[in-house]
Formats: sequence, structure tokens, C-alpha cells
Amino acid sequence: MLILKPSDIRPSEITSKSNYLNRRDFVKAGAIAGAVASGAAFAAPALGAIAPPQRGAKLEGVGKSPFSTDEPANSYEDITTYNNYYEFGTGKGDPSANAGDFRARPWSITVDGHAEKTGTFQFEDFIKPFDLEERIYRMRCVEAWSMVIPWVGISLAEVIKHFKPTSKAKYVAFETLNDQIRMPGQRRRVLDWPYREGLTIAEATNPLPILAVGLYGEVLPNQNGAPIRLVVPWKYGFKGIKGIVRMSFVSKRPRTSWNMSARHEYGFYANVNPNVDHPRWSQARERRIGAGLFARKQPTLMFNGYGEQVAHLYDGLNLRKNF
Ligand code: MTE
Repeated sequence: MLILKPSDIRPSEITSKSNYLNRRDFVKAGAIAGAVASGAAFAAPALGAIAPPQRGAKLEGVGKSPFSTDEPANSYEDITTYNNYYEFGTGKGDPSANAGDFRARPWSITVDGHAEKTGTFQFEDFIKPFDLEERIYRMRCVEAWSMVIPWVGISLAEVIKHFKPTSKAKYVAFETLNDQIRMPGQRRRVLDWPYREGLTIAEATNPLPILAVGLYGEVLPNQNGAPIRLVVPWKYGFKGIKGIVRMSFVSKRPRTSWNMSARHEYGFYANVNPNVDHPRWSQARERRIGAGLFARKQPTLMFNGYGEQVAHLYDGLNLRKNF
């Protein structure tokens, strides 16, 4: 079985040090409805490593967030060509090479389980009630690399409030599209498809998590989880489920893909924790993608540096057992 492990440094990192894009370069033109409906970012064929990454349509009306870090963001190229998305292959370059033809429109999302409001919604209707915000978050992968990513998204807490979960809803479960034709990587049983993730209701209603629909002020590229994916900045990257088609309010802890695949290696909580090593490698330090081949690894911070906002969620919980 194929198990996630720290990967080698890719050659392009040697030259990407000066490749940080300036946040002020964001262009905030175009209407979200038009941008999202056009699907412009999704029609292009995969162009391979030599062509510049395909850019998405601009998103309008994107607010700033007090939760953003002021660390420099990784380049658009780093963020869109070094990905995990096993539905499009298991290599880091596979999602950008193979997801170009994926059509993320039309797209519907089903909300079900213990909530007053449930149903199936077109993507555009699903996101319409919520404010779009830029959230520049540090992201830390379980494979001991990290990036800083300027997401655009909607607050998951606001989404949950909108659907009015009942007191029976203790967890929120998410599922990715299950479609071997549109997602050819699903023809290989490297994971038990569809990809699944979950949060406790307390985690999901914390102000930090977002459902991301954009990147660098533009519509989210396919390889990053178009049209909508989860972002939970204090957890390892595998919690950030992409291509979401279902959100369920459930009473029991949901099964999650990497935990089902190797439960001794990937826990349900998956909080970034430099003190609890993965069974096969240390989590004490991380390699910042784009920092260059000779850059020193940097120390990993508890809860990825978001402890002030989230540590209280785990009061009294043994984080070594509940990894
Ligand atoms: N979501 C789906 N549906 N399938 C996947 O294989 N990989 C996860 C997560 N979400 C994955 C997924 C892992 S292991 C990581 S590290 C992050 O996506 C990577 O997100 P990024 O490509 O935006 O960096």
C-alpha cells in the first residue's frame, strides 16, 4: 500500500527563492458570479511543467481577515504545482499535470444529517449567503513541509450556523466527489474512495477554518480542490479535503481517509504538534517549500502557531493518544 511520507526536494525549488508574488499584485476585478460561473480556470488542458500555471478568473469583493499571517506567501507556482490530490495521481506534480480537464461546474453540495436546514445546493447558491475573505494561512503538511497560502474562502463557522445543526450534531463529516471517470486516480485503490474528512463541531465552529473557493484573489485551481475545499490551518494538510460534495452533521466520529488507510500513523485530530512524532519521522521541524535547496529547516510550532485561537479546544485531552 502506498503511504504518505516526506518527499524529496524537487529541482524547481532551487530557482524559486525569488519567486514570491507580492500580495499587492492582487487584481480585484470581475464579478464573483461571472467568474465562478464561467469556469474559465477549468477548461484549459494540462500544460506541463514548462508552461506558466493556468490562472483562474478574478474574485470580486474579497475582504481582509485579522487571522492572516504577515509571513510572505509562497508563489502561485509553488502552491499550484506541489500538491497532494490522490484522485489525480500520487506524485506531487500529478494534480497539476492531470487535473486540467476536470470540470468543476456545474457542481452541487449536499448538506444532510442533524440540522434544521438540509438539501442539495448548486455551488453558487451554497456560497452566496457568505462573505468572501482572504485568509493568508501557514499550512503544514504531515510530510514535514510547509507553505504560506493566500486562500480566499468563506467562514466554516458561518456556514454551519446557517444550516442550524441540532444538539445531536457532534461532528461534521465531509466527502469528495466519487467518480472514476472524472477523477482517474480513483481507479487505483490507493485509498478507500471517496476521500473523507471530519471535524468535531467545536473545531468546525471555531473562527479559523474556511471553505476555500479561491487562491491569490482568483478562482481556485482544480489541483487545489476546485470548486470548494476545507482549510484548517492548525491541522496537518490532509484534513483539507478537496472537491467537497457532501457535508454531514453526525452524532458519531466519522471515518476519515488517512486514518482508515493507516490508523497508527494518521489520527482523527491531526493537530500540528512538534512534540508528537509520526511513527516513521520527526514532526519537530519543517521545510518551507520555495525557501531554496540550502535553506535550513524551521521549527514547527504547536498548533502550527494558531494555539491562541485553538488550544482551548483540547483542554484535558491527551494529545499523544489523541493525535
Ligand atoms: N483531498 C482529496 N480529496 N484528496 C487528497 O488526496 N490530499 C490531502 C489534502 N486534501 C487530498 C485532499 C493532503 S495529504 C494534503 S497535504 C492537502 O490536500 C494538500 O493540499 P494542497 O494541494 O492545496 O497543498
